[in-house]
Amino acid sequence: MSTASLQAYRASLLHFHADPAFDAHAHDWHEDGLLIVADGKVRAAGDYATLHATLPAGTPLHDYGGHIITPGFIDTHVHYPQSDMIASPAPGLLPWLERYTFPTERQFDDPEHAGAVAEFFLDELLRCGTTTAMVYCTVHAESVDAFFAASEKRDLRMVAGKVMMDRNCPDFLRDTAESSARDTEALIQRWHHRGRALYAITPRFAPTSTEEQLQLAGELARAYPDTFLQTHVSENEDECRWVKSLFPNSRSYIDVYDSYGMLRPRAMYGHCIWLDERDRRRMAETRSAAAVCPTSNLFLGSGLFDFERADDAGMLLSLATDVGGGTSFSMLQTMNEAYKVARLKGSYLPALRMFYMATLGAARAMQLEGTIGSFAAGAEADFIVLDPQATPLLARRTARRESLEELLFALALLGDDRAVAATYSAGRRVHLRES
Ligand code: GUN
Ligand code: ZN
Repeated sequence: MSTASLQAYRASLLHFHADPAFDAHAHDWHEDGLLIVADGKVRAAGDYATLHATLPAGTPLHDYGGHIITPGFIDTHVHYPQSDMIASPAPGLLPWLERYTFPTERQFDDPEHAGAVAEFFLDELLRCGTTTAMVYCTVHAESVDAFFAASEKRDLRMVAGKVMMDRNCPDFLRDTAESSARDTEALIQRWHHRGRALYAITPRFAPTSTEEQLQLAGELARAYPDTFLQTHVSENEDECRWVKSLFPNSRSYIDVYDSYGMLRPRAMYGHCIWLDERDRRRMAETRSAAAVCPTSNLFLGSGLFDFERADDAGMLLSLATDVGGGTSFSMLQTMNEAYKVARLKGSYLPALRMFYMATLGAARAMQLEGTIGSFAAGAEADFIVLDPQATPLLARRTARRESLEELLFALALLGDDRAVAATYSAGRRVHLRES
């Protein structure tokens, strides 16, 4: 490793090596910390007093005094084509899909349009401190090429896939079981592990796939076991009733996916609200993960995720925006709503846990621990600089904090893109807030 590539960042450091819900010593906090990066990877993270003596003379030192450096946020469920239709009103999921989502997604057969939206979307993620996302494209292969081309230019660690959808949707968005499998396989070969790109097999949700399409999606998931898989499950009660009528022989909604071999590590299920105990246990034992989307669930009136039952079952949990069903790209705003959802279910989410879920917890849910989500030596240097004084209100509240928990809680409840002073990906600065 050349010392020329060494960079050091001084600030308070926060990251995790375990889940704070189950381990009282899960986090590392260095009030006066130093993060050392070399060749786009973390070399060391610790106390400034200990580590600065190890730096070769002349190493550039970036001083972010008064700020907090954490791993970049990970949003495990988001639709880039829906960026332009965020905040579109409709009485619930199914009318919202019909009225806004499908007409918006129609435009993504145009590579130029797809590319322009992908650029806007990535700007927005980075402004909010999100360095990795699991992204739904549209049914058009062009929309995937446009997305990965945009993220490759910025060298971002992104997961994405072509939506598979061969029934119960407008003709203009319908593929066929065969064409969707063929396109998906070609896209896997083109993009999976190209640079930092990773592919996700993406059947939209059970109602818009025939049994044949789900069968082929499951076969692809077996043929390419290190790809990701993403879909929606048990989001809305009308949707659940619809699935019951379409798949009368399945015990439950998640069981539909299970019967096609789609429960496995690296499978990310959006929402997971209307699950029963058997569903939760099955997700845990197959290491399938939940992407919890509180701003979307509140906005669409879908329901309240049960964190306590999910924890009791040992499910892998992560937080996600679900834009455009979600109402913010900010994972801080997502924590804000997650906290309230937990309260409405009678449980409690400490801020430390929410920061874990948005970083190392998500990396674990994606089977990417050691690659992203922490400052373990050798991890990719995707990190953000949070500003506790970003707004007058944040400054006033955080000045009076009495603990780390209070500091993080104020950032989660009062923060948004304004609280992200800078974002780094693979050791390069990819966003600097205008001050
Ligand atoms: N279920 C199927 N498609 C979608 C979508 O685009 N957004 C949400 N929130 N739920 C879905
Ligand atoms: Zn979604």
